[in-house]
Amino acid sequence: MNVLGIESSCDETSVAVIVNNELKANLIASQDFHFEFGGVVPELSSRAHLQIIAPLLRQALKKSNLELKDFDLITSTAGPGLIGAVLVGLTFAKGLAFTLNKPFVPVNHIEGHIFSGFLMESKPEFPFLSLVVSGGHTLLLVVESEVKLTLLGTTIDDAAGEAFDKVSKMIGLGYPGGPKIQFAAENGDGREIKFPVAKTQTKYDFSFSGLKTSVLRHLQNNYENPENIPESDIPDLAASFQYSLVKALAKNIKLALDEYKVKSISIVGGVAANAVLRNEIQSIADTHNVKLVIPGIEYCGDNAAMIALRGQQLHMAGRKFDLSFNAFPSFNFNDYGRKSKRFKD
Ligand code: KG4
Ligand code: ZN
Repeated sequence: MNVLGIESSCDETSVAVIVNNELKANLIASQDFHFEFGGVVPELSSRAHLQIIAPLLRQALKKSNLELKDFDLITSTAGPGLIGAVLVGLTFAKGLAFTLNKPFVPVNHIEGHIFSGFLMESKPEFPFLSLVVSGGHTLLLVVESEVKLTLLGTTIDDAAGEAFDKVSKMIGLGYPGGPKIQFAAENGDGREIKFPVAKTQTKYDFSFSGLKTSVLRHLQNNYENPENIPESDIPDLAASFQYSLVKALAKNIKLALDEYKVKSISIVGGVAANAVLRNEIQSIADTHNVKLVIPGIEYCGDNAAMIALRGQQLHMAGRKFDLSFNAFPSFNFNDYGRKSKRFKD
């Protein structure tokens, strides 16, 4: 079975090809020009997707030695994401499916991330605990099977990646915040400044806006000009923020491991690239004797391989979709993974 995957929900255009369960191509074009604006500019993102998507597909075909007519299934992200950006990939994929007269499967981007561990040689084992940490989402779920997902908690304010990006901007490191903070923190001490780990009303929810505010307060209280922090103070600031954020994520994972009997933990999404988070969760997994699966760096961020894989899973599970399926900007997590109105059987 030859599957085409397309992803364009934010600032990465990606095209992937899976042939008989083997990933043949996963091309990712990142839009780094957003850097000068300090964040992703939606309209510019849509235009860039439009420009690159067809050449990227041509390249993916060449790499996997296929022609368009060889595909058995066309999949694409349908949301959540920047709606204009999502529409570029979705409409492109639907156009291909229509022209080639092949089945089409719209994929929830977050589901793509959740199952991205299955792109690895060592895969998660059901049931597994899934921590999704990206620029737009922070979720903790128990995944019992390909079709049974239970949401335990989510962020009540900022997403983990968003907190990295905002704090990075605050301390003058810029965008994208995650890698910049991780790099700066390498020379710092995470216990030097005490930033809080928020308590939420519900057991498994997360909150990062208090942490962000306490970094801001620290800057206001300690520097005459918070926009001009001495360079020598940056490493401890970055490390202390990172330490608190990782502690907050680890806390809920430990709670969930006490309550649910799982065989694996999988951390996915852009923030899963963070080395301190990886080490912390690895030691928790070792203590609890469960397997930890974190996708390789190229599958942590946005990529079409995870979309093709999830699309194929849904297709094999017998889900059918028609081309009237539309893009959605957000997702109602109460419907998550079950018979949502959008994902009809
Ligand atoms: O999943 P992703 O590529 O895009 C979506 O949000 O869907 O995640 C991007 C986020 C950004 O907020 C970025 O700062 C964060 O992932 N990130 C990191 C690291 N690399 C990327 N956060 C912490 N440490 C990293 N090494
Ligand atoms: Zn993502």
